[in-house]
Amino acid sequence: MTSDFLLYQAQTTPHPLAMEVSHAEGCYIYDTNNKAYLDFVAGVSACSLGHRHPKVVKAIKNQLDKYMHVMVYGEYIQQPAVELAKLLAEHLPKSLECTYLVNSGTEAIEGALKLARRATGRSQIIAANHAYHGNTMGSMSVMGYEERKQAFRPLIPDVHFITYNNTEDLKQITYKTAAVILETIQGGAGFIEPKSNYLTKVRTRCDEVGALLILDEVQPGIGRTGKLFGFEHYNCIPDILVTGKGLGGGMPIGAFTASRSMMQTLQEFPKLGHITTFGGHPVIAAAALATVKEITESNLMAEALEKEVLFRSLLVHPLITEIRGRGLMLTAITPSAELATELILKAQGKGLILFWLLFETKAIRLTPPLTITKEEITKGCKIILEILDEISSKY
Ligand SMILES: Cc1ncc(COP(=O)(O)O)c(C=O)c1O
Repeated sequence: MTSDFLLYQAQTTPHPLAMEVSHAEGCYIYDTNNKAYLDFVAGVSACSLGHRHPKVVKAIKNQLDKYMHVMVYGEYIQQPAVELAKLLAEHLPKSLECTYLVNSGTEAIEGALKLARRATGRSQIIAANHAYHGNTMGSMSVMGYEERKQAFRPLIPDVHFITYNNTEDLKQITYKTAAVILETIQGGAGFIEPKSNYLTKVRTRCDEVGALLILDEVQPGIGRTGKLFGFEHYNCIPDILVTGKGLGGGMPIGAFTASRSMMQTLQEFPKLGHITTFGGHPVIAAAALATVKEITESNLMAEALEKEVLFRSLLVHPLITEIRGRGLMLTAITPSAELATELILKAQGKGLILFWLLFETKAIRLTPPLTITKEEITKGCKIILEILDEISSKY
């Protein structure tokens, strides 16, 4: 299987982790030798309720017994998609009441960028240095890492960059700006939180010049930071909210949410302003509905904040220079990229799944399922500390 994986399935790095998965349950993934791996990554913040959460599995099975794909997005009334959009609206401010469901985070970003241009009649997009919003052409155009974009140019025009948390740069937001797009907490850059009311200041500047604010919550959204949406921590409501990853409870989804009047601009001149065949897929929407219900009706969000405290209290070591992030969107910063990589690989050997962040090479991703228990956190952190002790003489 390993050689077929390397030969026939397109690879994105020369050194994939190449663990052969047999099955997964709760906070554990099992390989084909039946070795159990405690999951501190959750499919990169996607498996918010762990693996095969019974309520998600049940919702999927129930829906499979009724119907799967029947029609392109937006024509037929399909209960799971309608109920999901309504449930999101019930948990959002009134100005974010209308949701367009798509298949991935990057596709939701594309939709949000198009909506901002369509709704304002302006073209300029302002994005942040070190931002990550996905890998299709539009999302890549607003990514703040030139070296990752260079080979794919030309990208979409009229995109300008500011530095996240730098209020001086907000002057660059002008009457020409259609939208400012920011991650509520910068992910790939190293889980950088907004400081000193930064997002409120961005909001104010956008309002002054009539620019829209798009907040990308593909990673922090849907309970991961201890609130259903990350923006709830920072006194700032976006005009367009983008979610994905954890929304699907392990199934592929993306969504962009705005006011009904703004969304209506996609209906005419031209009509079909955004099209998707599979967006709002009934089986995926049923999984997402079960996921959001479980996260909002249980104690998981409050517990995420307690679990953050536990992580912070346990992961104290000379080779951990900082723990960043909020709730269960955490990262441990180490002194070097080499150390981070050695830790991630050794952890896999000892049955603990860790992973890198996209751009901050010294970071270790700690984004377990929200359902992880305190005992599991303690067990995983013990493995991390043991490895750090083992390798400390080298660093
Ligand atoms: C903040 C953010 N936005 C967008 C995306 C893109 O989502 P997807 O990989 O589902 O296209 C990601 C994925 O990592 C992300 O972290």
